[in-house]
Parts: sequence; structure tokens; C-alpha cells
Amino acid sequence: MSERITITRPDDWHLHVRDGDFLKAVLPDTVKRFARAIIMPNLKPPVISVAQAKAYYDRIMASLPAGASFTPLMTLYLTENSRVEEMELAKQSGFVQAVKYYPAGATTNSDSGVRQWGSVEAVLEAMEQLGLPLLVHGEVTDPHVDVFDRERVFIEEELIPLVLKYPKLKVVLEHITTASAVKFVLTAGSNVAATVTAHHLLLNRNALFQGGIRPHHYCLPVLKRETHRQALLEAVISGNPKFFLGTDSAPHAQNVKENACGCAGIYTAHAAIELYAEAFESVGALDKLEGFASFYGADFYGLARNKDQITIEKQQVKVPLTLPYGSQSLVPMRSGEYLIWSLVA
Ligand code: NCD
Ligand code: ZN
Repeated sequence: MSERITITRPDDWHLHVRDGDFLKAVLPDTVKRFARAIIMPNLKPPVISVAQAKAYYDRIMASLPAGASFTPLMTLYLTENSRVEEMELAKQSGFVQAVKYYPAGATTNSDSGVRQWGSVEAVLEAMEQLGLPLLVHGEVTDPHVDVFDRERVFIEEELIPLVLKYPKLKVVLEHITTASAVKFVLTAGSNVAATVTAHHLLLNRNALFQGGIRPHHYCLPVLKRETHRQALLEAVISGNPKFFLGTDSAPHAQNVKENACGCAGIYTAHAAIELYAEAFESVGALDKLEGFASFYGADFYGLARNKDQITIEKQQVKVPLTLPYGSQSLVPMRSGEYLIWSLVA
């Protein structure tokens, strides 16, 4: 029999599931693997109020495959017009778990994001008091800053001052990509954590230019050089609970990725835990997968750990070239190539 491992069912602490027919197309991939996921609010228009988050929650629940059990953990999109009262409502709601900060213009659907931290001071103070985590897309948007340096510069110029100003605010630096981010998280207090994607653990920036330009490897923050990938791997296999799983699976239709100005985002939900297993195994650390995937995120958010389990086995499976995406199709990570691990149904 092929090698198998069984772990407590994991959660995805950073996920894009979009809406409507796109939501219906991608949600089953996540539900097969994960018990819960932090749902990103960057819809068009963004999810800024608790009422909008409830409506989105209901649409997700209505899109679940029959018999599935899954809990979407909702987030609000922080804007310069966000109000303290909305944060209080969010905390009371029981279904909104966090608030997402996008620097205006940093990534897909981030136009309504924040330009000046000064305009959200009262809201951040309220979140700090309420224990409502701030999820940070950590990149500066200054076009003069090299795209490969935007995370490091954000940490130096914005995040370090922010955590000093709000020392009790729970902060998750999302989808970290650099040694600078690892160092920042390790140095900060226990109120500061980070999510790490499978693609940033498996790929370095060469993957963007492998024999030609590869739009399906383009995401934000963009892939970095090998030394940074190594730093991320070291962090996730250290067993430090400040680092936990967040796929940032970000589906886009094939035609908007294969485009003169292609969208940022890599779709990994179809093979998320399998891809993480591959990354952990590559450095002989499969025994560290369960803490990272199934325990530390729940602990950070103050939620109960899951009770049931999933099993994966060492079995090569070919990833389809494309997957259905509403009336369109999307190109998943490893399209037309092999995964080493597969989920046991
Ligand atoms: C995300 C998306 O497509 O919504 N894209 C991405 O490259 N990660 C947005 C984001 O998380 O930055
Ligand atoms: Zn994201």
C-alpha cells in the first residue's frame, strides 16, 4: 500500500472564493480539504459592512455541495470610511473574524483600500480593544519601489511603526514572501503572526520565466528569489505557531490571466493540502505539517481546533489543464503536470 498520512482536518486562513457562478465552481475544492476558511472581502464592490458579510456568508452556505460541512469565517474590507461601530458589530456578529487591510491599489480589487493609516486610527484602536485581528496585505504601492522590495519596504516603513503604535492589536501579515517578513514576525510579540502559501513554499521567481513568461505563476506579492523561499520553508517547519496555513488561492478566468495585462493570483484550492505536503516533505518535515495546517491558526484566532481528520497518500495524480469556472475556465497550479500527494476521499 502506498504511504499515507492522516492529520486533523486543516483550515485555510486566507482564501478567495469570489461570488456567484465562480463561487460555486471553486468552493467544492476547498470544502473537500478544509473545515473552515478566512474568506477575503475583495469582491466588487468590497465587503465593507457586517450586513454585506452576512449576505456573502449566506451565499457561500447556499453554494455548498449537498451534505458538506464547512464554516466560512468572514472578514470586512477596511476602508478610510470604516467606522468604530461597524467593528463593534463585527465582534458581536460571531461570523466576522477579522478585518482586511489592503493598501489602495496594491492588488486585485484594492481600489477602496487605505491610503493613509491616519484615517483609520480610531478603527484600529477599537479593533485592538475588541481583539479583532487586522489582516495585512504587506506591500507598499509606491511605483518607485522595486516590485521585489515592496514587502520589505512595507515592513520597515509601515508595519514596524504600526505594531509599535498598537502594541496589543492582533496582526496577521498575509502571504509572506521574504526573509524580512520571517524576521519581522519572529521579532514581534505573540499578537503578530503570518500566513504562508503553498506556492511561495514551492516556487521561486524563476518560475515566472521558465522558458517564456508564465502568467499562471504571477501573484501578489510576486514570487521572490530562492533565498527567500528557503527562509519561508525554515519558518514553517520550525514548529513556531506564528506561522500557519493560508493558501491565498485566487482564481481568475484563463483569459484574464493570459492577457497583455494579466491578473495577479494563483489557483491552488484544487490541491492545497497536497501541495503543502510536498513542500514539507521536500525538507523532510512532514511531521510538522499538522501543527501548521490544523492547529496554529485556530489557536491564534481563539477558535477550537477541528476534531475530524483527513488522509493523503503518496500517489501521483495529473492535474487537468483547466478546470471549469462558471461559463469560463481557469488554469490551476501544476496544470497538466503531476502532484506527488493525493487526497484520500
Ligand atoms: C488576490 C486576488 O486575486 O484576489 N491576488 C493575488 O495575487 N494574491 C489578491 C491578493 O490577495 O493580493
Ligand atoms: Zn489574497
